[in-house]
Amino acid sequence: MLAQWLTTSNYTVVLTGAGMSTESGLLDFRSAQAGLWNTKNPQQLASTYALKYNREEFIAFYQYRIRTLRQCNPQAGHLILAEWEKRGIVQNIITQNVDGFHQQAGSQNVIELHGSLRTVHCQQCHQAHASDMYINEELHCACGGFLRPSVVLFGESLPAKAIENAWSAAQKADLLIVLGSSLQVSPANQLPLIAKRNGAKLVIVNMEPTEADNWADLVIHHRKIGEVLKEIDNELKDGE
Ligand code: APR
Repeated sequence: MLAQWLTTSNYTVVLTGAGMSTESGLLDFRSAQAGLWNTKNPQQLASTYALKYNREEFIAFYQYRIRTLRQCNPQAGHLILAEWEKRGIVQNIITQNVDGFHQQAGSQNVIELHGSLRTVHCQQCHQAHASDMYINEELHCACGGFLRPSVVLFGESLPAKAIENAWSAAQKADLLIVLGSSLQVSPANQLPLIAKRNGAKLVIVNMEPTEADNWADLVIHHRKIGEVLKEIDNELKDGE
């Protein structure tokens, strides 16, 4: 069914969450087994409070995440989505992830709602730098300002341009596919409903139930995203 919807839809948008990158080797945040927030306190580590009052732990946490990111690569699912974009099957990817794997896999139209762990920027002059600096213990800009990861912290608002582009894509979509998100974090979790309200078909592929399952036209639980995308990709190729 999903393969058919992909071929007949005019504007397909994919919304991805941390579950898109667990098969790359990164932990997600809320999986029952091994979500990052099951063992670490996000407010203590990934928040404006931590940046200001808990800087040592903040730096250590992001050095750990940047180091881990460097050891991982896009999974087969990222590569399939990039190929679907080239074939005109997918028009936009909106991601909550900060790993840059969609772009690394070749996707062009990627909207990063929560920023990127690929760069750090100066708190004083806002100059951006490669996040390798963080793991090389270079924590200050030439201007003397402190360097922080270019991700949205708890307590910060999302980049206005990213929100504008994501809302516009969700409103244009006639098919919105959620891949690997618990849909517990706002405002990203409003996008499925916005698409649905504009007449789009909503598909959710997620290991565990999500907050938006009741609005979905198709829900696929208890299956890995990489396998699901490979299966659909084979169906699309068989249908050519
Ligand atoms: N295949 C399918 N689903 C998976 C897979 C997989 N291989 N791996 C994990 N999942 C599912 C989990 O069951 C979980 O419900 O992906 C979902 C990931 O949900 P979260 O961990 O809540 O991640 P996400 O929805 O992206 O979180 C949103 O919260 O902490 C903030 O900024 C952070 O961007 C993040 C935001």
